[in-house]
Amino acid sequence: MCAQAPARPSESQLAQAARIIREGGVVAFPTETVYGLGADATCPEAVARVFEIKNRPRFDPLIVHVADAPAARALAAPWPQAAQRLADRFWPGPVTLVLPRRAEVIPDIVTAGLPTVAIRVPDHPVAIELIRLAGVPIAAPSANRFGSVSPTTAAHVRESLGNAVDFILDGGPCRAGVESTIISFVGGAPTLLRPGAAPIEEIEALIGPVERAPQRRGGASMADEAPLAPGMLDRHYATATPLHLRGEAPASLDAARCGRLCLAPPADASSWRAVEALSPAGDLRQAAAGLFAAMRRLDALGLDAIIADEFPQTGLGLAINDRLRRASRR
Ligand code: TXA
Ligand code: MG
Repeated sequence: MCAQAPARPSESQLAQAARIIREGGVVAFPTETVYGLGADATCPEAVARVFEIKNRPRFDPLIVHVADAPAARALAAPWPQAAQRLADRFWPGPVTLVLPRRAEVIPDIVTAGLPTVAIRVPDHPVAIELIRLAGVPIAAPSANRFGSVSPTTAAHVRESLGNAVDFILDGGPCRAGVESTIISFVGGAPTLLRPGAAPIEEIEALIGPVERAPQRRGGASMADEAPLAPGMLDRHYATATPLHLRGEAPASLDAARCGRLCLAPPADASSWRAVEALSPAGDLRQAAAGLFAAMRRLDALGLDAIIADEFPQTGLGLAINDRLRRASRR
């Protein structure tokens, strides 16, 4: 197999995308985790379009993407020492910090009126160049319709958002494949709001124990019920095809009409209509990188159901299981 050069937008495409952001438009761009749907974080009208395009409830705040730690510091205060340590170690990278917001910079619409702001420095040259050229922080959720599977290629973005977006920057497939790990430093001990591409074990090794935010129940469609911790909606990352965790799958399902999503190919692989084995070698990073694309492929087959194994509950397995569990809620 010959290695393919990663896709990279031209300088003029980047300049055009940055101009669109500066003029209040909306641009989909690659990060190391998933593709983001970005707008000028300081412009409420531009950010409003992001919510409209995604059909995202206004109570669910956005992550602000900046090019470096000093730019992040300008958006939040005070910074606890532990947050600084995470920034030093993981940025650029897939850790999002939730901190007290400096309201004079980031408007209410970005944070859903919360007195806090979620910030990260993405580890992707295209994202960083876009932010630098635009000259503003970029508010960006994942570039998919609210509640559905996040995009890890430009083609995924085109499939789900198509012409609704002003410009799509193609940076090839995302390396990590699941979203950033979100840690809140607001009120009391550091709290994990979402397991993600940075393993919680590495975070705890650096700053000590991190509390787990309580899970809440509720569907992505419950737009009028604001979650206690936003983004903790139980149903999310949903495929159109019903997805069941293997232990919870109805016995009546016929494997010949179902797809199996697993780490290594199962012994009974031939009895399934389709099998997506995310890492035969058992590498959870590799599995995370391929997770959403595999969910999309299975979803396109017209199956009765997708049956997902539970993954080892360590490292990237936490993020994978979190996405699968939410996808399985109906
Ligand atoms: O990897 C990622 O984080 C990707 C890329 C594009 O950066 N972004 C992403 O954004 O996953 P989104 O909008 O799909 O998820 C952001 C999560 C939401 O669950 C939201 O509720 C939470 O972050 N969030 C944002 N601001 C927050 C805040 N001030 N307090 C608590 N949670 C917040
Ligand atoms: Mg999302």
